[in-house]
Amino acid sequence: MNYRPFKDVQVAEVGLGTWQLGSADWGNINEDEALKILQAYTDAGGNFIDTADVYGMGVSEAIIGKFLQSVNKEIFVATKLGRRGDAGNGWPQNFTYDAMKRHAEESLRHLGVSQLFLEQLHCIPTEEMRSGKVFDNLRKLQQEGLIRYFGASVETSEEALICLEQEGLASLQIIFNLFRQHVADEVFARAKEKGVALIIRVPLASGLLSGKFREDTVFADKDHRHYNANGESFNAGETFSGIEFGEGVKLAGNIKTLLPDERMAEWAIRWILDHPEVTTVIPGASKISQVNSNVAASGLQPLPSSVHEQLRKLYNEQIHSKIRGHY
Ligand SMILES: NC(=O)c1ccc[n+]([C@@H]2O[C@H](COP(=O)([O-])OP(=O)(O)OC[C@H]3O[C@@H](n4cnc5c(N)ncnc54)[C@H](OP(=O)(O)O)[C@@H]3O)[C@@H](O)[C@H]2O)c1
Repeated sequence: MNYRPFKDVQVAEVGLGTWQLGSADWGNINEDEALKILQAYTDAGGNFIDTADVYGMGVSEAIIGKFLQSVNKEIFVATKLGRRGDAGNGWPQNFTYDAMKRHAEESLRHLGVSQLFLEQLHCIPTEEMRSGKVFDNLRKLQQEGLIRYFGASVETSEEALICLEQEGLASLQIIFNLFRQHVADEVFARAKEKGVALIIRVPLASGLLSGKFREDTVFADKDHRHYNANGESFNAGETFSGIEFGEGVKLAGNIKTLLPDERMAEWAIRWILDHPEVTTVIPGASKISQVNSNVAASGLQPLPSSVHEQLRKLYNEQIHSKIRGHY
């Protein structure tokens, strides 16, 4: 595993996304399986885990908290707030200082730590980012010692550029993958200039970029790839990166022909790591074998520039115009 700087620490360039752990949105992974996935990730040299207070309504954080008790090396856990919709919560009441403090305290409790390494805004409305009040609240939580760093997970390049102007922002989380290449042109240089870490989510377009799905693949009713396949419940971009599923299967097939060999998921992650502005990429995994394959991307040689050029041409000609959702 190779590491890249994130402020004053070194984080694994392949992190672990944990929306899958304890959340029905991906089918149900039980606690025992989830703990094994976390163990496989840290055994492979991983030290950066992304979660959120709403993944399984605290279950993902609580499983990570349990896991942290058994590990004796430093693990950097990034969580998020802003999307709770349970009793007394919702938009816009989630964005007051009191609500943000309450939600951060609940994450501290679930994770069993005295300070959150990274608290991220969780794709909140653009207007809330623009008003800047949420960032004042985060700075206050930081001064009070509840959080070490704060960042923002965003949907659009416009939102990314708004957040990058905020004093003290440590990281930006954004979708960037072979189905979402233009983000590099719009955001990366500014993030680098500002010294803000880039956390890359949905790197495999919800699994499509592993090349394993067929047009007749069926997902469980509670899996977001079934109930949000066309953006019915939340931003279409968070599911299959905004590409219609059947189209995505075909496009993944076209991409595969340009890659060096059959290891499509590894090369899709390698392609992301080939961008030096990226700090860490956080593929989700529902199996130990997926963790191992994703981590292996760190050890691959960069793709040749001729392959990068062909992949960009394919994106410009066949993919970009097909992205749906807020991006
Ligand atoms: N708004 C936000 O801030 C936001 C939104 C989305 C995600 N995230 C974060 O980003 C993380 C990553 O995004 P994501 O999980 O949505 O999408 P992803 O990483 O693109 O896809 C994950 C899925 O791809 C499949 N997969 C993973 N590795 C594989 C491999 N090596 N070979 C074959 N298939 C593989 C698995 O599908 P199967 O389970 O079907 O096998 C896995 O569940 C999340 O876990 C979460 O932490 C944040």
